[in-house]
Amino acid sequence: MKRLIPLIALFVLVSCQPKDPIEQRIDDLLAQMTLEEKIGQMNQLDPSWSAEEKEPLIAQGLMGSIFNIVDPQEVNRLQRMAVEESRLGIPLLVARDVIHGFRTIYPIPLGQAATFDLALVEEAARLTAEEAVQAGVRWTFSPMVDVARDPRWGRVAEGYGEDTYLTSQMGAAAVRGYQGSDSIVKLAACVKHFAGYAVSESGRDYNSTWIPEIQLRETYLPPFKAALDAGSLSIMCAFNDINGVPASANKHLNVNILRDEWQYDGLLVSDWGSIMNMVSHGIATDRRETAIQSLEAQVEMDMQSNAYLWYLKDLVEQGVVSEQQIDACVRDILRMKFRLGLFDNPYCEVETPQYFQPEALAAAQRAAEESAVLLKNNNALPLTSNLSPLTSKPTVLVCGPLAHNQHDQNGTWCFDKVDSMTITPLMAFRQLAKESKIRLIEQKGKHWSREVSQSNIAQLTRLAKQADVVLYFGGEESILSGEARCRAHLNLPGDQSEQLRALKATGKPVVLTVMAGRPLCIGDDIAAVDAVLYAFHGGTMQGPALANLIMGEVAPSGRLPITFPQAEGQIPLYYNKKNTGRPTDHPVLIDDIPVGAGQFSIGESSYWLEYGDQPLYPFGYGLTYTTFEYGPVVLSDTILDFTPYTLHPTLQVSCIIKNTGNREAVAVPQLYIRDLVGSLTRPVRELKGFQRVSIPAGESRTVTFTLTKEDLAYWHLAEGVDLGADGKYEFSAEQGAFHVWIAPNAAEGEPATFTLK
Ligand code: NOJ
Repeated sequence: MKRLIPLIALFVLVSCQPKDPIEQRIDDLLAQMTLEEKIGQMNQLDPSWSAEEKEPLIAQGLMGSIFNIVDPQEVNRLQRMAVEESRLGIPLLVARDVIHGFRTIYPIPLGQAATFDLALVEEAARLTAEEAVQAGVRWTFSPMVDVARDPRWGRVAEGYGEDTYLTSQMGAAAVRGYQGSDSIVKLAACVKHFAGYAVSESGRDYNSTWIPEIQLRETYLPPFKAALDAGSLSIMCAFNDINGVPASANKHLNVNILRDEWQYDGLLVSDWGSIMNMVSHGIATDRRETAIQSLEAQVEMDMQSNAYLWYLKDLVEQGVVSEQQIDACVRDILRMKFRLGLFDNPYCEVETPQYFQPEALAAAQRAAEESAVLLKNNNALPLTSNLSPLTSKPTVLVCGPLAHNQHDQNGTWCFDKVDSMTITPLMAFRQLAKESKIRLIEQKGKHWSREVSQSNIAQLTRLAKQADVVLYFGGEESILSGEARCRAHLNLPGDQSEQLRALKATGKPVVLTVMAGRPLCIGDDIAAVDAVLYAFHGGTMQGPALANLIMGEVAPSGRLPITFPQAEGQIPLYYNKKNTGRPTDHPVLIDDIPVGAGQFSIGESSYWLEYGDQPLYPFGYGLTYTTFEYGPVVLSDTILDFTPYTLHPTLQVSCIIKNTGNREAVAVPQLYIRDLVGSLTRPVRELKGFQRVSIPAGESRTVTFTLTKEDLAYWHLAEGVDLGADGKYEFSAEQGAFHVWIAPNAAEGEPATFTLK
């Protein structure tokens, strides 16, 4: 009994707490709502519906959300209908895909990940929210945190790359940026696509996925959890089926994990038509059945399927589903509306929207600068360096299909961009010519990345002969990446490779800048030119950003957020692979034949005959205009004891990085660990931290990371449980030896060793 007294006291204390005012208001509203009104809240439609179809629904309070309207007057008109004409005056949620900027466009998310700059990603999201809310948008379907290891998949552009830790950090930063820290959220985030969407077999969009529970938990779920922990007010289902169950009907994901384990109280919305798509998936015979399955899986809002709108009322009346199930959904939808302050302030207040503000343009430029990764440099860059053989005022040929393409440099998913506000590389170099910093030769005319034109090549080589250096801006048009834009060949489209070779044959230095939505397998093109900047699609200010990098005003500081394969046949290729029982230990190509340097001979190790097991560039890779030397890794202890009375609850890992070149630049040290022996096989490396450190020429900086026990933990079978026994997994660290690196990328560095007791 004695032991029970504190428990009883706690219970009394908790039950005497006044109810959260938002929950109280939700209770009051729910008590007044009819079944039809409740179901109405669970629908989202886009404006392609005619006024006759949608307006009566809104005016009767039978619509929870609309999306894709960005005219503030129209938003307010519809909102007024919901608030002033409907019986209970429940405001609409107004949504839009605001993915990497609203009017001012920032680099595609994959490019943002290449910055390894969380503060900048958060800032870009904050400034994006400031623009979007002026158009009446209060809910964005972003960030996408699908860990993507297949660059054939077009949507690799929309996420933060291949790594779970980097994606988690980036996604959380974006959520903080969109939502801000005030109690009333400005722009609600929606983390997506829950879950496993990027694992679509063979990189073909919407394809099936098979993801074992442990891999799901270890690789694909943590970024969702991180975004929800950062406060994301909503989450979106994926299109794919996962282990045979479409995400929109997946109780394991949406109920067991999201609600029961994670205790999430935000809104779960379907993807566009993903509820009715379950008929095509072949797990429901008609839309009515899809409504049942999605409701059972607690999908709370139906985006564009009309399955809830048309069938839920009957289903409740027939006793197939219950009103309590509906109430649970509506409760979360109303909660989101309260968290956005919509009941108190439903209208968009800005009269004259302020877009493209200097602060936004400056952040967009900085993001474009930081997202470009220097992959190769045979002293061709920067143009103004003392090392450069060029005159102080070089004659520059600016050419290639993305040199002056205001539409395409913005990349995928930016419906609200303004092409005419986009500054291309050619425009930036024209400005430099005006300032007498260069002499400019331009390739006239509009060019497409997929174009093949011999006359173009003849014109290009003629122009190149008059120049000191060729700046070729190539890559992919924006339409080649994004949703349903998967590619089987990851080459430079059209005759870009031919153009590059013809340009190189003129004997002039050729600098290739790639503006693309994914990693491309362009090792041969890279070998053919003198320098390569991999810039992704960089948005509104990419032109000036690239000019700054090329001229040397800014030193490149981007690092690859995803492994670059040598060939499509290596995909999926990612750094934190398992070692296998027969690792190659990095064979080298000798006369085009890979020769293993490890303990296993060529005939018995894990590699591709043509390519060994190595990528073109590893995760985390990137050069700059100086060189860095990483000193040995120093540990605060070599034996880690996390028992309760330990004096060493964390491990400090540090190293000295020296700038051994002649200009200041940013190093991006990356902390990796390897659990040498586990009860399940462990990856050869796992990213656990990163920093950006600016180091002046000739100087050194000490970087320090802190590892906690959680950093060493992973998902494995609970002790004494055999593989296959469902639900018996645990997340914990196992005793034994670990390697730890502070390295410039995932393939370099020397590890130190410590032991976890
Ligand atoms: C489908 C896409 O998969 C999703 O990412 C997007 O947010 C919705 N359509 C809404 O446009």
